[in-house]
Amino acid sequence: MTLHIVGAGGFGRETLDAVRATASAPEVVFVDEHPAATTVDGCPVLLPEQLAASGGQRNEFVVAIADADARRRLAREFEDRGLRAATVIDPRAVVSPGARIGRGCVVLGQAFISTGTVTGAHVQVNYQASIGHDTVLEDFVTILPGANIAGNVTIGAGSTVGSNAAVLQGRRIGPSVMVGAAALVTRDVAVGQLVVGVPARAREP
Ligand SMILES: CC(C)(COP(=O)(O)OP(=O)(O)OC[C@H]1O[C@@H](n2cnc3c(N)ncnc32)[C@H](O)[C@@H]1OP(=O)(O)O)[C@@H](O)C(=O)NCCC(=O)NCCS
Repeated sequence: MTLHIVGAGGFGRETLDAVRATASAPEVVFVDEHPAATTVDGCPVLLPEQLAASGGQRNEFVVAIADADARRRLAREFEDRGLRAATVIDPRAVVSPGARIGRGCVVLGQAFISTGTVTGAHVQVNYQASIGHDTVLEDFVTILPGANIAGNVTIGAGSTVGSNAAVLQGRRIGPSVMVGAAALVTRDVAVGQLVVGVPARAREP
């Protein structure tokens, strides 16, 4: 089995670190639409069109790109090619046995995910982010480093929470929302809004 990490940039390399920290790390190949080099951190970098030869049922992929729209497009493309979406959880993360992590997700080291929390597919939880109990992260949500999501929160598909932002318990964040770095979300946030500040308020995107 070969794991294809889609995106050979910074988050791709962080995902590789997480894979290499596991006890039985698979062979890794990067796939990148605009490769800057032919190898990255000792792994070959392929163009997507070079994948046909090495793709196939036994191969897996994970999209390591923070932009939710790009991630959605690439996840569909690789699933259509017949690769299976892998889930990468760094063993240095703490994930409650009572949490459920969906396919294609990446959870980096020192992230904490509490009990009863459920993630959809292709969600990213960065290092030192904390997700409280019974929270729902829908498909393609991105939680950036150090963000603190309290319990019973719902975050809609494709939304991003910036680094060191905090979301108070029980709040509902709609789909395609951007929460700026270091914001404090005290109220529900409607679909598509960009919110910044303490307390967080909507700003024109
Ligand atoms: C909120 C955000 C999406 C705005 O992006 P943007 O529109 O490109 O922002 P700009 O850099 O053009 O700044 C526009 C204005 O917003 C302000 N601003 C930017 N980010 C802000 C934030 N998080 N909170 C408060 N104000 C912010 C800037 O100071 C600037 O104000 P000014 O016009 O008075 O100088 C972005 O700054 C952000 O916080 N992204 C999350 C980044 C992150 O967490 N990265 C982690 C990577 S691992």
